[in-house]
Amino acid sequence: ALVRRTVFVTGAVDMEGCPEADRGEVAFIGRSNVGKSSLVNMLTNRKSLAFTSKTPGKTQQFNYFAVNDKPELARQIRYGDDVPGEKDRDSFYIVDLPGFGFAKVTQQLRQQWSDFMDEYLQERETLQAVFHLIDARHGPTDEDIKIMQKVGTILGAKQQAKEHCAKYIIILTKADKNVKNAKSQSNPGKVSNKVMEKLIVTMKENRVGYAPIVLTSSETRLGRDEVWKYLRFAAER
Ligand code: GTP
Ligand code: MG
Repeated sequence: ALVRRTVFVTGAVDMEGCPEADRGEVAFIGRSNVGKSSLVNMLTNRKSLAFTSKTPGKTQQFNYFAVNDKPELARQIRYGDDVPGEKDRDSFYIVDLPGFGFAKVTQQLRQQWSDFMDEYLQERETLQAVFHLIDARHGPTDEDIKIMQKVGTILGAKQQAKEHCAKYIIILTKADKNVKNAKSQSNPGKVSNKVMEKLIVTMKENRVGYAPIVLTSSETRLGRDEVWKYLRFAAER
């Protein structure tokens, strides 16, 4: 997939901290350490644009990355300069979220993230897609089920009210860890029937419909083109 240039824009801790809603955006959510930030890097062909860590709890804010951005536009967003200029048509934001259910974060901070997340899903009008990252080896954990409930409830209500509503897409991560010596796309690893079944049941129970499921690996770049298909929607809002 074509990706020109990605810049970090800002880290938000509340709605006021989000950049102007002037283009489409997609959000990466999922439990801590599942590989959200690694996927941002893989998709944008960058090594360490989004900071990753072996230790859960690395990402602590809603980090906005502008994909296919123009330098002057990035400046405008970051410093609030009044730079006139056309909007970049194929530019969009990827929002890399903190991991949910991370135990080492204070209860207060977790509550803050959770409230922000509710408000964000409810009010961010340019949100085109929510990518829920789930570990391909384990399938949905209790934490994932909570995330699905939340997303299902908020987006479900919007859909019923015929309001604009983001798509929900499941990304299975770390597919390379499912196979020994898997270093190539030709050996992508398998999702066990048990994981698949649990996923289907959980989706059904949480009213998210049958969401698309994409198997990925940030190590081998498996699934990159498929994820990009969905990202492209966001650019063309
Ligand atoms: P938080 O910011 O804490 O919410 O975590 P995160 O979801 O952003 O996870 P992050 O991308 O920081 O990755 C966590 C760990 O998993 C790192 O050590 C990554 O190198 C590793 N990792 C991420 N994706 C993959 C993958 O596809 N394959 C393998 N083998 N390791 C991965
Ligand atoms: Mg992260």
